[in-house]
Amino acid sequence: MEYIRIKGGIPLRGEAGIQSSKNAALPILAAALLAKGTTVLEKCPRITDVYHMTAIMEELGCRIWWEEENLCIDTSQLSRFDICCPSARCMRSSCLFLGSLLGRLGQARLPYPGGCVIGKRPIDIHMEGLKSMGVVFTEQEEKINASVSRLEGCRIQLSYPSVGATENLLLAAVLAEGTTQIKGGAKEPEVEELSRFLNQMGARIRWKDGETLVIKGVKSLSPVTYQIVPDRIVAGTYLLAAVATRGKITLHNVPWGHLGALEVQLMKMGGRIRVLDHDVIFDASEAVHGLKEVRTLPYPGFPTDLQSQLAAALTLADSPSQIEETVFESRFAAMEELTKMQARIKIKERKIQIQPAAFLKGTDVHAGDLRGGAALVVAGLAAQGVTKVTGCEFLERGYSDIVKDIQSLGGRIEKVNQQP
Ligand code: UD1
Repeated sequence: MEYIRIKGGIPLRGEAGIQSSKNAALPILAAALLAKGTTVLEKCPRITDVYHMTAIMEELGCRIWWEEENLCIDTSQLSRFDICCPSARCMRSSCLFLGSLLGRLGQARLPYPGGCVIGKRPIDIHMEGLKSMGVVFTEQEEKINASVSRLEGCRIQLSYPSVGATENLLLAAVLAEGTTQIKGGAKEPEVEELSRFLNQMGARIRWKDGETLVIKGVKSLSPVTYQIVPDRIVAGTYLLAAVATRGKITLHNVPWGHLGALEVQLMKMGGRIRVLDHDVIFDASEAVHGLKEVRTLPYPGFPTDLQSQLAAALTLADSPSQIEETVFESRFAAMEELTKMQARIKIKERKIQIQPAAFLKGTDVHAGDLRGGAALVVAGLAAQGVTKVTGCEFLERGYSDIVKDIQSLGGRIEKVNQQP
């Protein structure tokens, strides 16, 4: 059994660089299928979710290899559209192959996607949008079967700014006949990144009035070399670990412009921030205040992917806090684990209510999802005594080496591999 062992109660002091973004890399991997030839993704994060995506791409006929930290994808031999590989059921982003396979081959067949259990997570918005572009869906042997003779540009109004649906529709629209307009799409930086990547391949995507994505279909796209942006959620996790331990840290390679909603809350807590180019120096020695009301929202609101870590950081605040989760209806699994560490947390409908705890006590806890696991690490760093976090496989989906990063930040943390 593998677990993370943390000796907590020590303020973080140190520096670390930020890995590349998971949520930018995954749709870009799906997008690489749209061009024939070899795409190179520089600084691609080495995380399980990327390995699941590449396993699916190999099944489809792509050749994949690493050249140090760069991932190379040769799609010249791509011929299959039927995804059977178990990786597809392990992650939600496998559904992004719908848009790119329809664009490249006009057909896609895949299992209903899996992923962290943090809510219902249907893909109805993806499918509705694709249907308006002419795609026909049938269900066969519990798989989604999609086909289209020619993708047609059209006007789409999304009922919710779903990140994945916006990305899937972009992937389908870039090679469609005519122009597609997507209103009400997600504005997350990762959607921007996907658009930038596709435009570099030769696509014609732009925002009109900041509200509508306009995509002029092109005949073909070319492979490119592209550098994946740093991960705003990983940076946010480490900043919140500094809050929990009242530490002082420096992070390099931070996409600070994408962390505006977190910055507001860090300041309210009493943190002091200095930004020098891509470095952030964060002094959390007086970041002690609770937050009366935080709501997770689509970008530029506070990210749901930092909700659990924020809750962990607020357990030791000097006043009560409340976080409302509006994006995923049941993203609270880590809260029960935090209460085992003596955190004073209650869930009321979609609200996390946190009363100040005198201290957190290290104990054995289990990660049930990726960001929930990160929250347990944050809490473990602040807790008295030793915390053992099992369920490391969830953390590995999104953090390329959280143990090494936290060690550089001065945390007493190690990965333990216990033989049965
Ligand atoms: C992406 C991110 C994830 C983040 C989330 C919200 C990636 C790989 N993952 O996930 O880390 O937490 O955005 O910022 O980028 N929904 C529907 N029907 C749909 C699609 C979504 O009801 O067809 C609902 C979902 O169940 C959820 C909400 O909309 O409640 C947000 O989902 P969405 O924005 O699609 O998130 P993902 O793209 O899955």
